[in-house]
Amino acid sequence: MKDPAQTSQPSKARVAVLVSGNGSNLQAILDAATSPSYPAQVVLVLSNKKDAFALERARKAGVPAEVVEHGAFADRPSFENALIASIEKAGADLVVLAGFMRVLSPHFIKKFPNRILNIHPALLPSFPGTRAIEQAWNYGAKVTGVTVHFVDEGTDTGPIVLQEAVPIIPKETLESLEKKVHFVEHRLFPEAIRLFAEKKLAVAGRKVTVS
Ligand code: GRF
Repeated sequence: MKDPAQTSQPSKARVAVLVSGNGSNLQAILDAATSPSYPAQVVLVLSNKKDAFALERARKAGVPAEVVEHGAFADRPSFENALIASIEKAGADLVVLAGFMRVLSPHFIKKFPNRILNIHPALLPSFPGTRAIEQAWNYGAKVTGVTVHFVDEGTDTGPIVLQEAVPIIPKETLESLEKKVHFVEHRLFPEAIRLFAEKKLAVAGRKVTVS
């Protein structure tokens, strides 16, 4: 009789996660991936900062983690080539930017067309760039949110996969808003990765359809 554990399961999508800091989004993905039915696995964590807490999270989860410090390279192409080499060696199907604080050039982006996902803590195209939660709060917006998008050659401009709104209530503080936005991020990012892994995303121009 066949051992049920040996019956063929569809192979899981292999995900490389790029980080620079705390790694709470990485944690949400690692947690989702502990479920046997989750269709993706994190095969590599890459950090450009050696003291990123995200590295600790990767080690705890038993996921290979590497530090590739941008400062150790003569220029951006050589830094990016080191990232590309590690990602290719890990056999990643998908690259996920989870609080990765370096701009990636077209050289990197072209290597992984429609295979890089980023999470942005605002409803794009509003409030692109850094400190997006603070930008929305300072602006006096009544609604902000979270966007998961494919990465193209612009900054926070790629085709949108998922978005969810977060209301900014009258007594909101920046701290309370940050909590609400992160809570949504930690649900939306694993969900977008699941859709990618299940091959449910189709990109046509700026439009991403989810089947
Ligand atoms: C998140 O808010 C993400 O949207 C932004 O950077 C932050 C990273 O947080 N791109 P963490 O490192 O995942 O905790």
